Amino acid sequence: MHLHHVGHAVEDLEEAKARYALLGFRVRAEGEVESQGVRVAMLEPPGGGALLELLEPTGPETPVGRFLARRGPGLHHLAFAVPDLEAKLAELRAEGLPLVDEAPRMGFGGHLVAFVHPRAFHGVLVELVEE
Ligand code: CO
Repeated sequence: MHLHHVGHAVEDLEEAKARYALLGFRVRAEGEVESQGVRVAMLEPPGGGALLELLEPTGPETPVGRFLARRGPGLHHLAFAVPDLEAKLAELRAEGLPLVDEAPRMGFGGHLVAFVHPRAFHGVLVELVEE
C-alpha cells in the first residue's frame, strides 16, 4: 500500500493550479465528475511520487461544496492504493469501520475507488484506490 494522492479542496481550481505550478507540479489529467459535482485536476510533482488532486465544487450543494462551507479550503482526503479494493473493504467492514461507499465505484481517471468515513481514521477522510 502506498499514498496514491492527496485531495485538496479549493475554491478556484485555476488559481490553485497556478500556485502549485510554482512548485513544479504539472497537470496530468483534468475533468469534471458530474455525479459528485466536482471539477478535478490531478497534478504530479516534479520528482514523482504521490499525486495531488485539486477539487473545486460545481455548486454549494455538493459534497466538496458543503466541505468548503464547513471547513474552508484545505486538506480533503488521503488516498491509498490497494491491489484488491473489494477485499480491503470487506476487511474494514469486518472490523466495524464506517464506510462512505459500501461497494467500489468508478472514480476520476477510471480507477475503482471507495471512501472510508473520517470517523474511522481519526478525522481524516480516507479514499482507497484500486491499482
Ligand atoms: Co481522491
